[in-house]
Amino acid sequence: MSIQAPEYVRRIAPYQAGKPISELAREYGLQPERIVKLASNENPLGIAPSAREAMIGAIADLGRYPDSNGFELKAALSRRYAVPPEWITLGNGSNDILELAAHALLQPGASAVYSQYSFAVYALATQETGARAIVVPARELGHDLDAMRAAIAADTRLVFIANPNNPTGTFLPADAIAAFLAAVPRDVVVVLDEAYNEYLEPSLRFDSTRWLRDHPNLVISRTFSKAYGLAGLRVGFGLAQAELTDLMNRVRQPFNVSAVAQAAAIAALDDADFLQRSYELNRQGTGAAAVRVCADGLRVRALAWQLRAGARRRRRRRLRGAAARGHHRASGGQLWPAAVAAGDGGAARGERSLPRGVRARDGTLRCNRHRRWSSGSRSSASD
Ligand SMILES: Cc1ncc(COP(=O)(O)O)c(C=O)c1O
Repeated sequence: MSIQAPEYVRRIAPYQAGKPISELAREYGLQPERIVKLASNENPLGIAPSAREAMIGAIADLGRYPDSNGFELKAALSRRYAVPPEWITLGNGSNDILELAAHALLQPGASAVYSQYSFAVYALATQETGARAIVVPARELGHDLDAMRAAIAADTRLVFIANPNNPTGTFLPADAIAAFLAAVPRDVVVVLDEAYNEYLEPSLRFDSTRWLRDHPNLVISRTFSKAYGLAGLRVGFGLAQAELTDLMNRVRQPFNVSAVAQAAAIAALDDADFLQRSYELNRQGTGAAAVRVCADGLRVRALAWQLRAGARRRRRRRLRGAAARGHHRASGGQLWPAAVAAGDGGAARGERSLPRGVRARDGTLRCNRHRRWSSGSRSSASD
C-alpha cells in the first residue's frame, strides 16, 4: 500500500544543507581543522564566552521543558527593540519564523511572492502548505520590488523579502522598502527577513522596526545564528503587531526554543563587544574571502553587498561616501567592496576587473583560469 501524501508534498525537493565538516573530512580523507565551511554563513568566531557561560548555567534545569512563552528572552527583546512582548514570536532559528508565517497564512488556493535568487527556504515554506509560488525575476541578482508589487495576485497572502539577501548579497535601502510597504495591500503580509542585519555597515543600517506600528501586515524576522554566533542552538525571532503574532503562535510548536538556547540568546543580546568583533571580522573577510576563493579557482555566488541607490542625488552622495570608504562603483549604481570589484571600470584606479557575472542570466559568478571573475552556470543555493 502506498502512503497517501499530498502531491505538493511529494513535489518538494528536500533542502540541501552544507555538509558537516566531520562528514566532508571522512569522505575526502581531509584534516577537519583544514576545512573552512562557507555554505551556511556561520560566525567564524563561534559562540561568545558570555553565551557559553549562560548555556552551562541553564544545563542544571534541563530535566524540565523550556518556558514555552520565552518570558525572559521576550522581555530582553522587548527592551532592545521597544516593542511589547505580545509582538514577539520566538523561533527555532529564524527559519522557524518564515515557516510559521507560511503555515499561519498560506493554504492551497493561496499564493506567496518572492524573488528569484532569494533565500531557498521561501520556496520550501510555500510549497509545504500547498500554496502557489509566484517567483519574480531578479533585477541585477536582487529583488525587483516594483515587479514584486505588480506580481501580487488576488490570492496572494504573503511576500518574502531578504535584506540583505542570501545567496546574492543584494541590499535594499530603507526608502525602497518603505515605498513597497506603502504600496502593498493591507491584507498581504510582508516578511522582511533581516538575518544579516547586524553585519551591515553603519551607513547602510536603518531601523525597520519603526514600520511595525504603521503596518499590521509586517513581520520582521531576525536571528541569533549569524552575527551572534549561535547557529547550532537554533534561535531566532519575529516582530509583528499582536494580531499577526497571535496567528503565528497558533501554529508554533509549544516548546520550539530550548531552555539552553533562550539563556544563550539573552546573554548574546547583551554582549555588545562580541557583536562588534563579529561585525569587524566580517568586514575584513568580505573582500578578502572573495579574492582568495577566486584565486583557488572555485565557483561561487557573489560575495559582496550590492547597493541599489534610490534617488539620483542620494545615490551620488552615497557613492562619493562609498568611494571614500574604499568601495568601487559598478554600472547600475550598485556598490561592491573594492576587494571584490576586480577590474574593468576600476582598472584606472589600479583595481582588477569587475565581476562580469553581475549580469549573468543564471546569476552566478565564477573565477576563470586567469583568476578573474566571470559569469558561470548556476550553483546550488547556500543555506
Ligand atoms: C536570508 C536568511 N534568512 C534566514 C536564515 C535562517 O537562519 P536561521 O534559521 O539559522 O535563523 C538564513 C540562513 O542561512 C538566511 O540566509
